[in-house]
Amino acid sequence: MNLISSSGTPLKGTMCVPGDKSLSHRAALFAALAEGESRIENFLVSGVTRAMLEALTALGVAWELDERAGVLVVQGHGLRGLRSPAQALDCGNSATTMRLLAGALAAAGVTATLDGSAGLRRRPMNRIVEPLQQMGVDIQATGGCAPLSLRPSSFPLRPLNYILPVASAQIKTCLLLAALAAGGPTTLVEPGPSRDHSERMLRSMGVTITNQKTYQDGKPLYTTSLTPPKGLVLFPLAMALPGDFSSAAFLIVAALITPGSAVTIQEVGLNSARTGLLDALLSMGADICITAQASRSGEPVGDLQVKYSHLHGTTICGEQVVRMIDEFPIFAIAAAYASGTTTVSEAAELRLKESDRIAVLCEELRKLGVQAVEHPDGFTIQGTAAVQGGTIQPHGDHRLAMSLAVAGLASQAPVAIQDAQIIEESFPEFTQTLQALGGRLVVE
Ligand code: S3P
Repeated sequence: MNLISSSGTPLKGTMCVPGDKSLSHRAALFAALAEGESRIENFLVSGVTRAMLEALTALGVAWELDERAGVLVVQGHGLRGLRSPAQALDCGNSATTMRLLAGALAAAGVTATLDGSAGLRRRPMNRIVEPLQQMGVDIQATGGCAPLSLRPSSFPLRPLNYILPVASAQIKTCLLLAALAAGGPTTLVEPGPSRDHSERMLRSMGVTITNQKTYQDGKPLYTTSLTPPKGLVLFPLAMALPGDFSSAAFLIVAALITPGSAVTIQEVGLNSARTGLLDALLSMGADICITAQASRSGEPVGDLQVKYSHLHGTTICGEQVVRMIDEFPIFAIAAAYASGTTTVSEAAELRLKESDRIAVLCEELRKLGVQAVEHPDGFTIQGTAAVQGGTIQPHGDHRLAMSLAVAGLASQAPVAIQDAQIIEESFPEFTQTLQALGGRLVVE
């Protein structure tokens, strides 16, 4: 499927985005580990969350999804209530599914193989395998990658004191899930503020879990400590998920770069570990107002009012990289339309995402006439008033596909995205949502 986007119309209107991807993964999996029935509203129905749900079915978990209403009901049978699947669990393209499941399966003590697409088989897995092995988990990777094979380990697992080499909510969550079945408290230390959705959700399920920021030699450290629940019991969930900030990001930048636009996006998750892009865009001169701030099932939410703005270049490094880790493809589009230079550094993790989001992003932006220079740990973009049209290959990366489609809403000639069906992985309503706001997108 090709998706073609063209300029010429301002974006106007009020919209919601689908439920948060990170929270949907967690809610489905954590509910499966709870004792009793959980109900999750505004669950994201998409490629990656289907991979999680199908894996849960293979593990003997009963769930029902009302796709129209976005309501997921899960029957949990406790931390040790999963059964060994008959076949390898297919995690599709979803590293979150694979890494979180590995931790849950370690706690559940089942035999299983975790596998996925060719793209997922390239993602690094030693980052979870090594610390899990330190906990006494019998887990093996294949050359540091998937397939992963797990066998029951002696119970309880060993508590872990571990310094993560990178700030990563996926590694942290994997280890916190395994730590639920450990014989004592586990402490994890990260160099940056990765998203804390798991901690918030596990706390609401009765787990004692703390987050602390300290400093060592002037550098911040983020420590998470978990004490296993008494009797290994997790209470079921009853929650309504906020809209996904990472999906809203495409609409935000679309409105900022398309002349005459004024868009409101309602009930978006605004957890500060996720909103680094907002800070980046505000520092570039973006006209964004946050209203209707509230708390939804333990997560902050708000409405975002965004107007077309003259952006200027900026510099991104350090903790802000972690707080906008999924937003660099769409941030790069804002940078391409800004005046002046934008530089990103200390962001080598981008090379390990659904694609190499430094190399591929720069390569595809250059096809649109944008000066984009790759560095080992980031990139430099020279903004231009004249982004060209062109044909783009998203390299199997949903966020790259959507970002480059947004670029076409203000470019000199249409932008065609090949293999655009990959967008279904995280934001199936992307095209219709932009069309409803007046965006010129056509599927061929
Ligand atoms: C996620 C964490 C991030 C992010 C991914 C979702 C999560 O990955 O890039 O899209 O739900 O925990 P890392 O933990 O690898 O940084």
